Amino acid sequence: MKILVTGGLGFIGSHTVVELQNEGFEVIVVDNLSNSSEKVLDGIFAITGKKIIFEKIDLREKASVQDLFKKYQDITGVIHFAASKAVGESVENPLLYYENNINALVYVMQEMQQLPKAHFIFSSSCTVYGQAEKMPIKEDSPVVPAFSPYGNTKQIGEEIIQDVAKVTAIDAILLRYFNPVGAHPSIAIGELPLGVPQNLIPFITQTAIGLREQLSVYGNDYPTQDGTAIRDYIHVVDLAKAHVIALQRLLAGKNTEKVEVFNLGTGKGSSVLEVITAFEKVSGKKLNYKIVGRREGDITEAYANTDKANTVLGWKATHSLEDALASAWKWEQKIRS
Ligand code: NAD
Ligand code: WQD
Repeated sequence: MKILVTGGLGFIGSHTVVELQNEGFEVIVVDNLSNSSEKVLDGIFAITGKKIIFEKIDLREKASVQDLFKKYQDITGVIHFAASKAVGESVENPLLYYENNINALVYVMQEMQQLPKAHFIFSSSCTVYGQAEKMPIKEDSPVVPAFSPYGNTKQIGEEIIQDVAKVTAIDAILLRYFNPVGAHPSIAIGELPLGVPQNLIPFITQTAIGLREQLSVYGNDYPTQDGTAIRDYIHVVDLAKAHVIALQRLLAGKNTEKVEVFNLGTGKGSSVLEVITAFEKVSGKKLNYKIVGRREGDITEAYANTDKANTVLGWKATHSLEDALASAWKWEQKIRS
């Protein structure tokens, strides 16, 4: 079965391609390489030994998306990762985000709605919950006004899919990721942030390797046990596996609604200081960090209630935070060697 993976050379996409190939799916990857490299194809091949069809296409070009679906008429499912994801950049350049994250989604769905049956998996985010009132966060926790244009594109994306699924043969699963981290255990693929990382784990590994002088810990005056903010860090391989399970659920017609929503997290919250301590333990390195003021827009805590993913989807995260940090550290060492 041919599965189209948009953004398939990116961080989460590449790990998902590996898991799809491991499960016997034939994969077509579409990527414009705006935040990835063609070298990732070699990394994926090194793990699976299986060929991938790669199309370098910018999904903002409607005609290219039309040609893609004409060329591959036997696509049975689409996993849509392609998007821009830097929160700060989205505040600076909102139209870039609305164009990339919304237009591309619309063009892909316009082609899918012409298929007799279509199965669609969408990369959403726990950012749709904002600062949820109750922890752990359940899927029925209210979606609150987005703080950034990036977050807004995820909310609008979810709404577009809900509207379209109602009147077409498209069935969809919206996966709300918490904080994806880590690298494949083979260290053949991992995260490749461009420029100065905004996310905690790549900033930690780049500091430990000497690329950054010091990690700034954004705030220790949060109402948490140690004062630093709490997140649910999920290993990217666990996350990737959930996509395959979600796709299989749609392909088998086991979904009970046209659009289903699942949280993907570990269910465990870790504070920034806990992450630093865990990193120091697995790497054996002392991390140079200092406490600074809060980062604008940050929330106090977010961790997932994973009951629905565990029982309905039949998926559970199996990797610990330490596993994820150890793989991220090995990956950082590999790419700098
Ligand atoms: P990533 O940037 O590593 O991967 C996205 C890929 O899409 C890149 O390879 C990029 O080149 C490609 N791409 C972007 N625009 C494109 C376009 N117009 N046409 C073709 N290809 C295009 O990001 P990621 O971390 O793997 O995230 C994947 C998805 O998951 C995104 O939709 C992101 O918003 C979402 N998400 C990510 C996180 C996270 O923290 N990483 C959390 C929640 C949700
Ligand atoms: C984690 C914690 C920071 C960097 C972002 C997006 C969100 C989602 C995931 C896509 C926070 C602290 C960080 C640093 C720090 N992406 N931190 N020093 O903020 O939970 O979410 O990525 O959908 O939309 O907003 O992740 O990794 O940036 O931060 O102290 O240099 O680490 O304040 O508490 P976040 P993060």
